Amino acid sequence: MNGAAVKVGMECMATTRLERVLGGERIWPPPIWLMRQAGRYLPEYRAVRAQAGSFLDLCLDPERAAEVSLQPVERFGFDAAIVFADILLVAGALGQQLRFDEGQGPVLTPALDGLGLDGLDRGRARDFLSPVGETVALVRERLDPGVGLIGFCGGAWTVATYMAAGGVSGDHMAARSWAYRDPDGFQELIDRIVDVSVGYLVGQLRAGADAVKIFDSWAGVLPDGQFARWVIEPTRRMVENVRAAVPGAKVIGFARGAGLRHLGYAMQAGLDALAIDEAVPLDFAAGTLQPRLPIQGNLDPAALLAGGPRLEVAAREIATALGARPFVFNLGHGIHKDTPPEHVARLVDVVRGVADPIGRGSG
Ligand code: CP3
Repeated sequence: MNGAAVKVGMECMATTRLERVLGGERIWPPPIWLMRQAGRYLPEYRAVRAQAGSFLDLCLDPERAAEVSLQPVERFGFDAAIVFADILLVAGALGQQLRFDEGQGPVLTPALDGLGLDGLDRGRARDFLSPVGETVALVRERLDPGVGLIGFCGGAWTVATYMAAGGVSGDHMAARSWAYRDPDGFQELIDRIVDVSVGYLVGQLRAGADAVKIFDSWAGVLPDGQFARWVIEPTRRMVENVRAAVPGAKVIGFARGAGLRHLGYAMQAGLDALAIDEAVPLDFAAGTLQPRLPIQGNLDPAALLAGGPRLEVAAREIATALGARPFVFNLGHGIHKDTPPEHVARLVDVVRGVADPIGRGSG
């Protein structure tokens, strides 16, 4: 079956190859899409980005954001599109001033560390984020019905690290120390991020996203107790509240750097699928994680940047190790901006050409 979408009210029967895997089915070849598949490594993205003005303007311009969301699917034939936006829009929605400076990345003012939340202007979240729902609807309208569409937000912890530091910080000390010094105050920030993120994800699902992904890129810096409180618990609440609003909503979690804690994260948060970074050993992923839920990952973006025969070996190794159970091929983290697009095209061919590790096709 090649997957014409059959939408029944808000419920969606699993029709795209991506949704089938997220629902627990193994198919071969595995669906493939890549984190940050829309971005600066594509000349057609750079052209639209130049017209849009700033990166933030692009994120909040549904027509152009839809165009760049579709570009990588059109060029490479991926099995899923991801809506073009950014996890830090939630910080803007919460009232922090957000801009992206060329070469420096996101800048959020005022930094919240020690200032508490008083400076934040509440109550403008829905309006601020509504263009992203429009982008989702435009992409869904233009996307082949057999291709999945993924919405997303950041994990509350990861968004908080940027909000506390006022931008990019190497060690995340602003959030890490705030969480020890004033756990109640920090909890309030986390709660606000969770609330806005739930509304944001629900809006994307209602606009036509087939699944949503929670990117907790800095989960790995926390010790156990902090990880349970600031990563697992807020994620569990997001998942629970999203499913209460959209029954059957599919949620992928990504707790980069969580290592051995991936199992507790996935089970306690109630995820449908787990995205793993490149440092997760394949035997742990296949033997411990994958018997419990579908896995997405985990090619090293550096292998994709390098290209050549070692890229092919690495891609085949992952597809073979994880291909016996429900699996979505992806990177362990976002595409590096200097990656030649030909390497991406080659990767898609290689993954689709890998011999079925259990010797029968079903997709
Ligand atoms: O194609 C896709 O994956 C969809 C779009 C997407 C972007 N950011 C676009 C983007 C997604 C899913 C994200 C997630 C995101 N944003 C994360 C989580 C995943 C990860 O990479 O760990 C994080 C931590 C951010 C925050 C962020 N956005 C930073 C730190 C930066 C600056 C660093 C950089 O790469 O420039 C961004 C900017 C950003 N987000 C760009 C893109 C395409 C580059 C901006 C540009 O085009 O000039």
